[in-house]
Amino acid sequence: MTVAAPAIQSLDLRRASDREYALLHALQSRMRAERLPDDPPIPLDEQIRGWRNLPTYFDLFTWVVPSADGDAFVGSGSLWISRTDDNQHLADVGIEVLPEFRRRGLGRRLLAPVAETAAREGRRLLIFDTSERVPAGEAFARRLGADKGLETHTNQLVLADLDRALIGRWLEEAQAQAARFELGFWSGPYPEDDLAAIAALHEILNGAPTGDLDLEDFRVTPEHLRDWERSAAARGTLRWTSYVRERATGAFAGFSEIFWHPTRPAILNQGATGVFPAFRGNGLGRWLKAAMIERIVREQPEARVIRTGNADSNAPMLRINYDLGFKPFEARAVWQIELPKVRAFLDGREA
Ligand SMILES: CC(C)(COP(=O)(O)OP(=O)(O)OC[C@H]1O[C@@H](n2cnc3c(N)ncnc32)[C@H](O)[C@@H]1OP(=O)(O)O)[C@@H](O)C(=O)NCCC(=O)NCCS
Repeated sequence: MTVAAPAIQSLDLRRASDREYALLHALQSRMRAERLPDDPPIPLDEQIRGWRNLPTYFDLFTWVVPSADGDAFVGSGSLWISRTDDNQHLADVGIEVLPEFRRRGLGRRLLAPVAETAAREGRRLLIFDTSERVPAGEAFARRLGADKGLETHTNQLVLADLDRALIGRWLEEAQAQAARFELGFWSGPYPEDDLAAIAALHEILNGAPTGDLDLEDFRVTPEHLRDWERSAAARGTLRWTSYVRERATGAFAGFSEIFWHPTRPAILNQGATGVFPAFRGNGLGRWLKAAMIERIVREQPEARVIRTGNADSNAPMLRINYDLGFKPFEARAVWQIELPKVRAFLDGREA
């Protein structure tokens, strides 16, 4: 039986209705379970608090496809536009369609308002990512004519397999640096006096490989940091940061961050780890990570795994992570496509 194609609706995620939130959450939970079947679901109320309190430095446009009876959303499209001074040529895209509704043209239809809005906003490049665990994503990207710009993995450390002796050795070796550097931790909001320096620490990540992706260096400001913190606090996300500072000058040399949510305490997410180029080669990266893991083992007994996203070409970071026992968990790819190519695909003009 052929049914009329349901209309696409747009949604303002910062102020949607409870019903819209519940339907979108149900869709996203299914999509997440397809990719990460062993992970606990994200509770609805946490997700709603996250949506209502998204950071303010970007605009998010969302579209959904309701089912014929209107009781579910079967697909969604989203477009993230960063209102920062950098990377004004690009927009991040996400398109998701429930498995039983795929290959009916919904992905293509959801792409239409995404591309139209990106054009209206003056963005020429769309960026999105896919997982090897859902091969349809890559098939769609290839059909679209997108270019794979970066190959990455989520790497995972199972804490039950942790080599505690190795952590002990790295912490001991770090003592050679203790006269010059001090190690410290922040939990909760960053200290106000160090905010500009902490923003600079985050910009170290501009040195991480970005493959063939057409990206400019990003800027991080104290306002961005407070914006993230406000959003994360509303959602209930917790963060620990380890840092190393040069005693003589007070200059920060590097940092490493871990995030998690108390409703899912078994899974910790490694955020950024960075050491300024001038301080590299002193074992500070190892120290930052070993000190963090040692604290997690001591103070977060419910933690089971730590996950981290790394470009496959990031040899220095992978060396530390593999030595620690991180193993490939999920292969991911980041794709890019110029808007005229998307238009050609939508118009059926593509090669
Ligand atoms: C990628 C995704 C959104 C596609 O949704 P969809 O509704 O099936 O997409 P469409 O039906 O519009 O497909 C358009 C074309 O892409 C290609 N394509 C899509 N899925 C494919 C697959 N599994 N195998 C081969 N080609 C595929 C086909 O050429 C298809 O046209 P056709 O069916 O007429 O041959 C869906 O598979 C999905 O949700 N995947 C997980 C999330 C994801 O990876 N998103 C990536 C983009 S952000």
